[in-house]
Amino acid sequence: MLIVNAPVEKNIELDNQIYLLKIHSPEIAGKIKPGEFLNIRVSEAVHPLLRRPFSVCDVEGDYFYIMFNIYGEGTRILSQKHGGDTVDVLGPLGRGFNLKGDFDTAIIAAGGLGAAPFPYLIRKLGEQKEVHCFIGGRTHKDVILHGMKNIFIATDDGSLGYKGNVIKLLNKNLDLLKSSKVKIFACGPNAMLRALKEFTMKHKLNCEASTECAMACGFGICQGCPIESSYDPQKYFLVCKDGPVFNIADVNI
Ligand SMILES: Cc1cc2nc3c(=O)[nH]c(=O)nc-3n(C[C@H](O)[C@H](O)[C@H](O)COP(=O)(O)OP(=O)(O)OC[C@H]3O[C@@H](n4cnc5c(N)ncnc54)[C@H](O)[C@@H]3O)c2cc1C
Ligand code: FES
Repeated sequence: MLIVNAPVEKNIELDNQIYLLKIHSPEIAGKIKPGEFLNIRVSEAVHPLLRRPFSVCDVEGDYFYIMFNIYGEGTRILSQKHGGDTVDVLGPLGRGFNLKGDFDTAIIAAGGLGAAPFPYLIRKLGEQKEVHCFIGGRTHKDVILHGMKNIFIATDDGSLGYKGNVIKLLNKNLDLLKSSKVKIFACGPNAMLRALKEFTMKHKLNCEASTECAMACGFGICQGCPIESSYDPQKYFLVCKDGPVFNIADVNI
């Protein structure tokens, strides 16, 4: 785990007020794996005091990217960064996706900003596996296609692609999911992940999900990010240290 004062190379605004911040750090870019995250201090000022966690979105040489939209004060400040500014980055943190294992087709299931960790994962998986991406949003404005391939789209209001949610779209494509050794990689709102857990258990599909919760330290000290075990209600994992990526069967999201 490193703490670096890293220069921002550029801030790219995609469609729909989605930002991609390109940050220079050979140390972090050389170490970080898909699904791991960074805890970023967005300002040198006292407020906001706490770091904000972001998944690594992609890595290119000595640079890594994070993807976000403006949610509150921290992301508003980040959205105003530009080339030459610096950010204080702690990472790489957490446990990311497991790219090894007995599967030959990867299915990406992303809801809204749940797309953020996948460009890097797809880049890595694409070297050896077939990849299909199921991308959902409430409307077409929430559908993020950056870095995706072999795309299936679902929107709740039907303004783009299939009318319905990503889980229903996966269900409509069960043939693809059952045609080879498949592993699902998911990230999105908790309601989506809960429905996906039910779906994958019903169809006996292997699935890892990147989970989210409010965090403080980011590395297991404050105990502020518990997630309940599926097998023992007395047992909790820490999202920052044991996750954020879990086998979806193992946790109550
Ligand atoms: C492991 C991990 C990876 C993440 N990756 C990304 C990413 O790649 N891109 C991205 O845009 N966001 C990501 N997030 C969420 C991101 O950290 C929050 O959106 C960000 O901290 C918001 O900061 P803010 O200052 O803009 O909003 P704040 O002002 O901090 O938040 C506004 C409100 O939302 C609540 N809140 C903040 N964060 C969360 C949260 N994670 N869950 C539930 N409620 C919350 C706060 O309590 C507050 O009420 C990730 C979170 C985690 C835990
Ligand atoms: S955020 Fe502190 S223990 Fe997880």
